[in-house]
Amino acid sequence: MTLVAAREALAVNRAADAPPGSAARTGRSAAPPVAMGQTAPLLQIAGVSLEYRTPERVVRATHRIDLDIYAADRFVLLGPSGCGKSTLLKAVAGFHEPVEGEIRLDGGVVRGPGPDRIVVFQEFDQLPPWKTVLQNVAFPLRAAGLAGRREAEARARHFIDKVGLSRFADSYPHQLSGGMKQRVAIARALATQPKVLLMDEPFAALDALTRRKMQEELLSLWEEVRFTLLFVTHSIEEALVVGSRVALLSPHPGRVRGEVNCHDFTLGDIGSRAFQAAVQRLHGRLFEASPEPETPSAPR
Ligand SMILES: Nc1ncnc2c1ncn2[C@@H]1O[C@H](COP(=O)(O)OP(=O)(O)O)[C@@H](O)[C@H]1O
Ligand SMILES: [Mg+2]
Repeated sequence: MTLVAAREALAVNRAADAPPGSAARTGRSAAPPVAMGQTAPLLQIAGVSLEYRTPERVVRATHRIDLDIYAADRFVLLGPSGCGKSTLLKAVAGFHEPVEGEIRLDGGVVRGPGPDRIVVFQEFDQLPPWKTVLQNVAFPLRAAGLAGRREAEARARHFIDKVGLSRFADSYPHQLSGGMKQRVAIARALATQPKVLLMDEPFAALDALTRRKMQEELLSLWEEVRFTLLFVTHSIEEALVVGSRVALLSPHPGRVRGEVNCHDFTLGDIGSRAFQAAVQRLHGRLFEASPEPETPSAPR
């Protein structure tokens, strides 16, 4: 069974066990499997503190973060600037070692970068400009020894097609818009079939309309591929639309304030009263003076 097939099977099993009409059944959002007493977390962030050390001082970016992320979760880290979201994502990617605690992926402790974790960043310049779209997507597959030339190209074409860029396979990054470059970055990441896809504010530099479209496309891709997503944003709306689960972080140093499950909000819901109420509620929980008890609850 391929990794994707295994993940799909897992996602389907989870949905099949959920009661009819529940969020897990309807597909888009996943109730925490822990509540159903099922599988172990795919990614465990256990008591993780992260620091930056400069000659003058030590900056604690996160303090004892505990999070469990399950296969096919769309898990969002939401919090204001400076709460350690990017640093935590870098730690999961293996670029930043915890000073305390550990990160486990599929049972193994993360000790460095690997092709099982791919990051999509906000910046549009994450693609080597001298490679075409096809070469950009195929290259990591070959570099990581995941596929030979032919297979890498076939897989690259498959995912380029999935993000709607087949006609641009031979274009260079400078010939593409910001949104198209982000699509290439997403195709490149998915083509390696990572155990977890890491996204750090991937749509933050796009105009509002393109951003919405990209959020929609990401959800459609997820429907199809059921990858596990760890997504960073400081936008409450984006968290509610993209996420199936959201961790709320507070800054200086970054701590988990609480966690919520999102229920089937789509872009079409943004103007609705239920959606706006959920936004207000998350806003309150993020910015109130003292943390609420960390009980998962539906945001509506
Ligand atoms: N290279 C660095 N050196 C020192 N401090 C840093 C560095 N990068 C980030 N920080 C600090 O770590 C904290 C968390 O930063 P970051 O992870 O970038 O937050 P976020 O992504 O949530 O905005 C902030 O206080 C920030 O100033
Ligand atoms: Mg950041």
